[in-house]
Amino acid sequence: MKTIFSGIQPSGTLTLGNYLGAIRQFVQLQNDNNCFFCIVDQHAITVPQDPKQLKQNIKSLAALYIASGIDPDKATLFIQSEVPAHSELGWMLQSLTYMGELERMTQFKDKSEGRSAVSSALFTYPTLMAADILLYQSHLVPVGDDQTQHLELTRNVAERFNNRFGNTFVIPEISIPNVGARIMSLQEPTKKMSKSDENTKGFISMLDTPKQMEKKIKSAVTDSDGIVKFDTENKPGVSNLLSIYASCTGESIGAVEAHFRNKRYGDLKSEVAEAVINTLAPIQEKYEALISSTELDEILTKGAEKAKQAANRTLQKAKKKMGLLR
Ligand code: TYM
Repeated sequence: MKTIFSGIQPSGTLTLGNYLGAIRQFVQLQNDNNCFFCIVDQHAITVPQDPKQLKQNIKSLAALYIASGIDPDKATLFIQSEVPAHSELGWMLQSLTYMGELERMTQFKDKSEGRSAVSSALFTYPTLMAADILLYQSHLVPVGDDQTQHLELTRNVAERFNNRFGNTFVIPEISIPNVGARIMSLQEPTKKMSKSDENTKGFISMLDTPKQMEKKIKSAVTDSDGIVKFDTENKPGVSNLLSIYASCTGESIGAVEAHFRNKRYGDLKSEVAEAVINTLAPIQEKYEALISSTELDEILTKGAEKAKQAANRTLQKAKKKMGLLR
């Protein structure tokens, strides 16, 4: 049995990308592993958040995790800020992380570009992410492929700690799905689908109505040559729709390409819309029942207790190794 950790930021309603790239893997992995799934609210505050909205987003994300199939009897679901060990270890790891390493992070570059006030937390964000993972002695981290660089940094920092202070942390592996690891924007298919995209037509929110989903997919940017083929370089829009279809139906890209051969873009879009709606509609139904129940609070309280126990064990060990404490 492996220990698995992953987190999602409560920085807006989750997208189809978050679901297909991350949550779906979580649901599969929870059956045979010791899983910790986190609502990483302290990562969300690295860019400005409205406090009321953030509170709602945290609750909404908890409900979406459960509605998507995370079973609190199998996996530990908790809020990052309720387990102080994360920020404590995050600080300790900052002392082992070089400015040059953080400066190379493409997510930092993307998120800070053109902004006049960039928080220092946005810069050191990857060390908090490393702490999240290392605290649980995680063997495997299921994520979409935009997190690869952060995972590499986590491994480097963990190795550095182990070399300097003696074996303390498990070195985690990354798990990326074969299909759906990078769902692209429907409007700019060379950019990843993101919940913070200002153009709401670019992403499918997990809570969009079927009508909204259909409308967004029907207005997805494709190309003018009319051939349905998987070719991310020359046909990013069509390839993205094929990936979405394959990921929702569980078919391979090859099988999906064959299915749509000689069909028109209009047919492709209609079938993709249907597949997405069929995937998300049952989740939305469960979400509605959960969001107004008291069950969520109980799940999160229990989750935080369990997470604290596991995290504190590692934190104490790491502090001792570094020469902190009496
Ligand atoms: P976040 O909140 O941006 O995204 C959550 C998860 O969804 C995946 N994802 C995607 N997958 C496919 N296509 C997309 N368009 C797409 N957009 C997002 C992400 O890869 C991620 O797996 N830094 C992380 C949160 C985090 C974390 C951690 C993850 C904090 N601590 C520890 C793993 C382990 C983030 O911002 O994810």
